[in-house]
Amino acid sequence: MSPFQITRTLPEDATDAALRADVLQGLTATPKTLPPKWFYDAHGSELFERITELPEYYPTRAEREILVDRAGEIAAATRARTLVELGSGSSEKTRHVIDALTDLDTYVPVDVSESALTGAGRALIAERPGLNVHALIADFTAPLTLPDTPGPRLVAFLGGTIGNLLPEERAAFLGSVRALLSPGDALLLGTDLVKDEEVLVRAYDDAAGVTAAFDKNVLAVVNRELGADFDPGAFDHVALWDARNEWIEMRLRSRTAQTVKLPALDLAVDFAAGEELRTEVSAKFREEGVRAELSAAGMELSHWWTDREGRFALSLSTVSLSTVR
Ligand code: SAH
Ligand code: TRP
Repeated sequence: MSPFQITRTLPEDATDAALRADVLQGLTATPKTLPPKWFYDAHGSELFERITELPEYYPTRAEREILVDRAGEIAAATRARTLVELGSGSSEKTRHVIDALTDLDTYVPVDVSESALTGAGRALIAERPGLNVHALIADFTAPLTLPDTPGPRLVAFLGGTIGNLLPEERAAFLGSVRALLSPGDALLLGTDLVKDEEVLVRAYDDAAGVTAAFDKNVLAVVNRELGADFDPGAFDHVALWDARNEWIEMRLRSRTAQTVKLPALDLAVDFAAGEELRTEVSAKFREEGVRAELSAAGMELSHWWTDREGRFALSLSTVSLSTVR
C-alpha cells in the first residue's frame, strides 16, 4: 500500500449540487448569506495561508506556541496511533503533534480543499517515512466514515475553525465528533478566546487587504462554478464585533445598487446600495462555554491550555463515561 492515499467521499457533482443549493438558499434569504466552506478553492486556501502569516492575525501563532509547548503532554495523555484532523489545511502546526506521537500509525487529514490535502500530504510523507497518510476530501459537517486504522484515535480540530459554525451547527457537529470516539480516544480542540474588540477586528480586517481578498474570493468561486457575474470590486469587506453573540461577523457590502445574474440557477439577485451579504462568523470562546458545549455533546474536558498572552486555548477532551453504552 502506498503511504499516501486520497479518497473523495463525495462525487464532484454532489459538491456542485450542494454549492447550487447553498447559493440559491443564501442569496434569496433576508439578510443574504453565503456559507463559508466555499471560500476554500485552491486560491482561497492559498489566501488563507497568507492570512496566517499576517501581523494582525494572532490565532495561528498563539495556537502554534501552545502546540510546541504541549505536544509532549498531548502525546503522553493520548498515546494515539491514529490522528484524524478535521479542516486540516496545510497541516503545518499539526507537525508538532505528529512528531511527538511516537506510536502514530496513520494520519487522516480531512478537508474540502483537494489542493491543500495533496500539498500537505506530500510534504508529510517526505518528512516522516513510515507514516501512513490517508487524506479524505470530505465535508466535516456531514457524517464521516473513517478508514479502519488502529486506536487509540485522536481527533484534532484546530485553527478556531469551530467558531465558523453557528451555535446550532456546533452542537450537531460536536455530537458527530463524539460518535467518532470510543473510550480511550480524545478530541484536541483549538478555540480563539474573547478579547479586546480592536484586536479582534484587526485580525479580520488587515491593513494589507489579504482578508478582504479572501472574503471576496467566495464571489469568484460562485462566478466560476455557477457562471455568475459578481464584480468583486463592487463590494467592500467589513468585519464587525457582535458583542451579544461574541463573534466576529464578516460581510461584503454592496457599493452601489446592482443586479447580479446567476445563469446556472436561473436567478437574478438585486443588491441595494450599502446592502450587506454575510459571509462568515468567527465565534470567540470562554473556558466555561467550551466546557459546557463539550459536556452537552457527551465529552469531558481534561486539559485546558492557553498561550502565554491568554489569547487562544487548546483543550483536550475524552468521552464522558456516563454516556458510554
Ligand atoms: N487547520 C488549519 C486550517 C484552518 S482554515 C489551521 O489551523 O491553520 C479552515 C480549513 O477547513 C480550510 O482548510 C478549509 O478548506 C477547511 N474547511 C472549511 N469548511 C470545511 C468543511 N465543511 N468540511 C471540510 N473542510 C472544511
Ligand atoms: N478559522 C479562521 C478564523 O475564524 C478562518 C478565517 C480567518 C476567516 N480569517 C478569515 C474566514 C476571514 C473568513 C474570512 O479565524
